Amino acid sequence: EKGGWSSFMAKEISEQPAAIANTLIGRISDGAVKLPELDALGPDILTDITRVVFLGCGTAAYAAMLGQYAIEKWAHIPVTVELSHEFRYRDPVIDNRTLVVSISQSGETMDTLMAVKYAKELGARTLSICNTQGSTIPRESDAVLYTHAGPEVAVASTKAFVAQIAAIYLFGLHLASVRGELDAAAVAGLTAELAALPAQLETVIEQKDSISQLAGWMVDTRSVIFLGRHAGYPIALEGALKLKELAYIHAEGFAAGELKHGPIALIEPGQPVFVVVPSPRGENSLHPKVISNIQEIRARGARILAIAEEGDVSVLPFADTVIRIPLASTLFEPVLAVAPLQIFAMELAAAKGLDVDQPRNLAKSVTVE
Ligand code: BG6
Repeated sequence: EKGGWSSFMAKEISEQPAAIANTLIGRISDGAVKLPELDALGPDILTDITRVVFLGCGTAAYAAMLGQYAIEKWAHIPVTVELSHEFRYRDPVIDNRTLVVSISQSGETMDTLMAVKYAKELGARTLSICNTQGSTIPRESDAVLYTHAGPEVAVASTKAFVAQIAAIYLFGLHLASVRGELDAAAVAGLTAELAALPAQLETVIEQKDSISQLAGWMVDTRSVIFLGRHAGYPIALEGALKLKELAYIHAEGFAAGELKHGPIALIEPGQPVFVVVPSPRGENSLHPKVISNIQEIRARGARILAIAEEGDVSVLPFADTVIRIPLASTLFEPVLAVAPLQIFAMELAAAKGLDVDQPRNLAKSVTVE
């Protein structure tokens, strides 16, 4: 039940730190990852596979994109992300050394279920990352790694998303270990960062009231753009999806590097643009590039809402609003950066008088193709 919350979505946003913590429980021991449920894949499968293919729809596909970045970095194995509904209609090249990892909160999404069945027919090994015990997709898969976000009632996914990221990262670290790509010390460092996320996310969610104020002045906005790069890119896509789903506002997420290849033409005075700013400490040196994107669109009148780490003063001269997230390394930042965008979409929908938990035309679990 909702308890004292105004909506299930508000409750589920607040439950995100617990969703991550519960997904990690019992799976990290002395800095190493323990995932006995993967034994069901069969012996030596994780060392034998030559690539990983993620399947998912909507928010689950964005979690998979983060999985792609993490697993390619940690385990040095090729990873692709496929929208489930596209996958089986385009003759994908799959063999018995492909591990197909489906991501689904409900475990019942028909597009994803059919894609998993198709991958099996082609000989792939299948792993399901799922939040619903005993649901159909896990039953169709060789092995299942459950997320423990608890039941998610609001149609728009929040706590299941962060739990999916936690589970995918656990899987990625395990894969990198068994394949000898990360040593024990590296894995211990990364598992410690994972374990720190719940407390860090809590501090982001505490800024709820200031994010609600933003929603207040945006009720008449007709279009919002979201920009991010690298791990911030799936978060830009997720921020835009949330706004479409909940507030029925046209929203687009772009990779910031793509701006100059087209989307910058959309910028006109007053256009709100959320920018997920990578850390200036980031190993990939993307920070100055994103700051220069901000300057370019600001010069054309964009209203900049920056999500930036604590202490990053470089955004201050250009941003109309700065939302702060705690210091985290590149692959962990998205878990912190998504919460303000979820809260913003929810508050804007509420300010417009819309049903936050049951947006029009949408269902929690889409069991038709
Ligand atoms: C959509 C929901 O229809 O299905 C999204 O609105 C969700 O929130 C997507 O991400 C996938 O659902 P599931 O249950 O497969 O994760």
